[in-house]
Amino acid sequence: MPFDRIVIRRPDDWHVHLRDGAMLKAVLPFTARQFGRAIVMPNLKPPVTTTADADAYRGRILAALPDGVSFTPLMTAYLTDGTDAGDLARGFADGVFAAAKLYPANATTNSAHGVTDIARIAPVLERMAEIGMPLLIHGEVTDQSVDIFDREAVFIDSILAPLLERHPTLRVVLEHVTTSEAVQFVRAHAASGRIGATITAHHLLINRSHIFQGGIRPHLYCLPIAKRETHRVALVEAATSGDGPFFLGTDTAPHTVTAKEAACGCAGCFTAANALEVYAEAFEDAGALDKLEAFASLNGPRFYNLPVSEERVVLERRPSVAPDLILVSEGDAVLPFRSGETLRWSFGGTV
Ligand code: NCD
Ligand code: ZN
Repeated sequence: MPFDRIVIRRPDDWHVHLRDGAMLKAVLPFTARQFGRAIVMPNLKPPVTTTADADAYRGRILAALPDGVSFTPLMTAYLTDGTDAGDLARGFADGVFAAAKLYPANATTNSAHGVTDIARIAPVLERMAEIGMPLLIHGEVTDQSVDIFDREAVFIDSILAPLLERHPTLRVVLEHVTTSEAVQFVRAHAASGRIGATITAHHLLINRSHIFQGGIRPHLYCLPIAKRETHRVALVEAATSGDGPFFLGTDTAPHTVTAKEAACGCAGCFTAANALEVYAEAFEDAGALDKLEAFASLNGPRFYNLPVSEERVVLERRPSVAPDLILVSEGDAVLPFRSGETLRWSFGGTV
């Protein structure tokens, strides 16, 4: 049978939340086991806003790596109304920052310090366009009167489209896309080579009905929230097309079980423990395992102007069980996506 074993260049994860302290120590080994590099989100408390913050955070990540594991964290700056363009540009030139992240204020977890009006950071964006520094966008409007399932599509029309017109050379990644509108928008701008989009594993597998299957499933609640089935199908089509603008970004976002299973639970799915196995399932269901390498290992480095990995990893079609609770500290644990379920693929490490 074809594709019982696939060997691909070692993938990178272009969107992860590694957190800090005990949580960093608990979750980092999972990302570093599968991925050679990862774009590390800056939404710590307080956020990573300066080159000095990012340099120190990178040091803590490297110190938390298990012995003998090769993994490169690529750092990002959290944009605020007060971002210093000079510091940002220096951090980029010195190789500390790979990109900067735009969280509209209060759009998601730890985004209270985000940008209140994108017009305020126009000079910063101008500078980023000049130096070729990518802008990574959490693309949801924050207006609570806009239906939660429409916030991405409304963001694209009302904020992203005008932004690209105002800054015609700015390079942009629309993060964790969840709608057919996003896919269409990215495709419509693909020829410019300046737009990319990350797609998570969970958005390839679940639609919004899964969040309410037999009851409320807090561990499937993330932002942007999963949309209806037609959108999931559009995301699968985009990811499995192998087309350049679409690349892997898990948005693995660990929260403790206590924080997830609460009257007001946190947004985020922890997918790092079995990310490649889950992506392989989605690609196999679409009959497109031959496109997995482009999506996971080639398109991202091309967008970020980085070399592709010379390492190889293997995925095998034999059942694996998604891990159980992962202990973070006394009494605190994280529940992985599809915990306890049998997955069709197994990660066989580097070869
Ligand atoms: C992320 C988190 O927990 O930091 N949560 C999520 O649902 N994806 C924030 C984010 O990327 O929106
Ligand atoms: Zn995220």
